[in-house]
Amino acid sequence: MDSLLIQGGVSLKGTVKVSGAKNAALPILFGGILFDEPVVFENVPHLRDIQTTQKLLETLGFATNFEQNRMEIAPKGSGIVPEAPYDLVKTMRASVLCLGPLLARLGEASVAMPGGCAIGARPVDLHLSALERMGAEFTLDGGYIKGRCKKLRGAHIQFDFPTVGGTENIMMAACLAEGETVLDNAAREPEIVDLANFLNSCGAKIEGAGQTQIRIRGVTGLSQEQPYRIMPDRIEAGTYLIAAAMTNGEVRVEDCPYKDMEALCSKLEACNVHLSYEDNAVVAKPHGELNAVDIRTLPHPGFPTDMQAQFMAMLTMCRGSGIVEETIFENRFMHVPELVRMGADIRLSGNSALVRGVPSLTGAPVMASDLRAGAALVIAGLCADGETRVDRIYHVDRGYEGMELKLQELGARIRRVQTPA
Ligand code: UD1
Repeated sequence: MDSLLIQGGVSLKGTVKVSGAKNAALPILFGGILFDEPVVFENVPHLRDIQTTQKLLETLGFATNFEQNRMEIAPKGSGIVPEAPYDLVKTMRASVLCLGPLLARLGEASVAMPGGCAIGARPVDLHLSALERMGAEFTLDGGYIKGRCKKLRGAHIQFDFPTVGGTENIMMAACLAEGETVLDNAAREPEIVDLANFLNSCGAKIEGAGQTQIRIRGVTGLSQEQPYRIMPDRIEAGTYLIAAAMTNGEVRVEDCPYKDMEALCSKLEACNVHLSYEDNAVVAKPHGELNAVDIRTLPHPGFPTDMQAQFMAMLTMCRGSGIVEETIFENRFMHVPELVRMGADIRLSGNSALVRGVPSLTGAPVMASDLRAGAALVIAGLCADGETRVDRIYHVDRGYEGMELKLQELGARIRRVQTPA
């Protein structure tokens, strides 16, 4: 198993380029299922979750070709096999995003029920009830969600909660359904807009993506005219902005989608981090000592839950104390005991954490429990005194393209090592 070894204490300096967004690429690649001709995507990041998606698409009967950052997906003559097996779904919950496209395209789908994960139970009930309103019927059989329908039809759907994956699944399914689907209380994340932009560029009729109401008129088929370029990753970009601030460095984050990052950027500025905005880049540099602030995770445009762990890592060394409230996932504080092992002062109470700044963190062996927790430990290690070893780094590989290489370019002393499993 791989780990990252970090010698802390180096101020990061230079330019880092942001990769394509994992959370945009995953639904968009699954959108390929809706096509009966090849589709091509650019700026696809090399990540474990993308490899898992590629494997799943191949299992479903698509040929894929992934070179550089370009992926082609083409249906094979042998036809689609509408079954997403447990072995793949258990490694990536987002596999459930094939459900809507398979039902829309074939009228059947069998997808392993995603189990819990380190950050919570994460059910898919909202996806299923919305697809039921569109005419699908589901049974649970041997751990698999089995769905059937004649032809999906447009429906009025009101989500109880603006689920990101649910919004994406329904948007894809509704593209090939009969009639109009109106989705209320839809998630507004920028990755949803990217998915809509891709589908609309291929003839879909989606209006309102990025707002709380999305209207989708079904069409008879989709056809791609030119390769679609995946948007840059706002979470990766935000992680490097925080790393620059924590190490008292100066980093230019290129391809930074800062217009989609207002909640994070305004909190960073409130902490005393100076951000200068260029056309498609942001330069981050702290203005002297960092001050603590409170954060509360919320659906977009609120503060993203996917930045909570990294922001908390920064709060551990700010002046004063800050409260971190997690409202999206019920168990997303797995990084807390690991940060405490590095000398952080954090008290947990329910879904809130009180973080009191300490003068410095100390390097320690720590363990990544999930993707963003892993990233938080890496950036904590960058500013800690001495050596930090972050184990189970495969979590970080799910969502950060070449993280240690990018950090090395910024001057960090970080390297990948093999540790016994
Ligand atoms: C997506 C992102 C993930 C991010 C999350 C919230 C991808 C691949 N993943 O995950 O990185 O942290 O959005 O911004 O884009 N819920 C239900 N029933 C459902 C669906 C969701 O109760 O049917 C609950 C979940 O358990 C969770 C909350 O709603 O507590 C948010 O989930 P959701 O917005 O669906 O997140 P994901 O799409 O899984």
